Amino acid sequence: MQDKEFLMIPGPTPVPQSVLLDMAKHPMGHRSSEFSSLLSEVYNDLKWAFQTKNEVFVYTASGTGAMEAAISNVVNKGDKVLSLVIGNFGERWAKIAASVGAEVEKIQVDPGQAINPAVLSKRLKEDVNKEIKVVTMTHNETSTGVTNDVQTLCAMVQEHGALSIVDGITSVGCMPVKADEWGIDILISGSQKGFMIPPGLSFLTCSEKAMKAYEQCEHPSFYFDFKAYKKAVNDNSTPYTPAVNLFVALHTALQMMKKEGLENIYARHARNAKAVRAAMRAMNMPLFVEDDEIASKAITAVLPPEGITVPQIRSTMKKDFDIVIANGQGKLVDKIFRMGHMGFVSDRDVLSAISSLEATMYKLGHKFEVGAGTAAAIKVLNEAKQKALV
Ligand SMILES: Cc1ncc(COP(=O)(O)O)c(C=O)c1O
Repeated sequence: MQDKEFLMIPGPTPVPQSVLLDMAKHPMGHRSSEFSSLLSEVYNDLKWAFQTKNEVFVYTASGTGAMEAAISNVVNKGDKVLSLVIGNFGERWAKIAASVGAEVEKIQVDPGQAINPAVLSKRLKEDVNKEIKVVTMTHNETSTGVTNDVQTLCAMVQEHGALSIVDGITSVGCMPVKADEWGIDILISGSQKGFMIPPGLSFLTCSEKAMKAYEQCEHPSFYFDFKAYKKAVNDNSTPYTPAVNLFVALHTALQMMKKEGLENIYARHARNAKAVRAAMRAMNMPLFVEDDEIASKAITAVLPPEGITVPQIRSTMKKDFDIVIANGQGKLVDKIFRMGHMGFVSDRDVLSAISSLEATMYKLGHKFEVGAGTAAAIKVLNEAKQKALV
């Protein structure tokens, strides 16, 4: 059957029909008053999503564009950047910082682990001459399914005096992130994740301290220049021709998000992650991240059981059920598969993905009690709903 594909990958994520229909309209003129009033609402709603009183800049670029924007506006050649690396996306910060000539040091852990705050605290205390200018980190490491304790890590960076730069690409709109309250200096995100729209836009908010660092930056990026985007937000405009239809999509998606409410959005992600994890355990499918405390609420990484391969699981899910699940990345290719449950994903989607995975594993000869995964997920979802009613 055609037109039934369902993306259970960690982005792009499924897009609501109302968003798709609004996107399908003729493009607006990007200097029209109609577009300007849409921008005014979008810019305000983004502050709500990022939990900040500061402007949120919107770049017509994928998430990596906002990463480059963050580094290239505050880091000078020779600056010391400490990158906290727990996977591929944490490594990307280090690569971008190196590309502008920064002296990069890393605190790195094995895939599947989070940064231990005590290790960062020790390194920052050793830096008595305050040489470290910037600390980069990933909130939700999509390549491994691990979430860092960004609140604690950023508090440490703030106490030291360096700037914190946080990749919230798969956390903003999925799990609690409070830019101002947590003292995050630069927080970025992308459109194709918690924001439920297609890829192509990325977001960045920065603190007054980060703006001061920008003033000291010798060669800030031209396309991503902070000052140009700050002025644009205040003028309800954009510096260059933006992806107007994606802004229309974002406007509709943000209305939906506000209707649901941030707390409900976070609760939905948390219960879906819990349901997937309970299902995997009930199906004897080893979780890549055993520790529930650091496991992502937006994506779950799973190891294939003995004798069954990741390509077999992914291709059977696609062929028999038209459900797309992601492979591992880098060294984890074919070692894990990743189920995204972020953005426009309901309990129904999670249950159908789990039962489809059960059918897949049964077909591939995995030994487990058929139905146990779905039953475990149903219990988790029901329990969460009962609690919400109290
Ligand atoms: C945590 C994280 N950071 C950065 C990126 C890069 O974003 P993009 O592929 O939109 O450039 C991704 C994309 O999946 C991501 O999940």
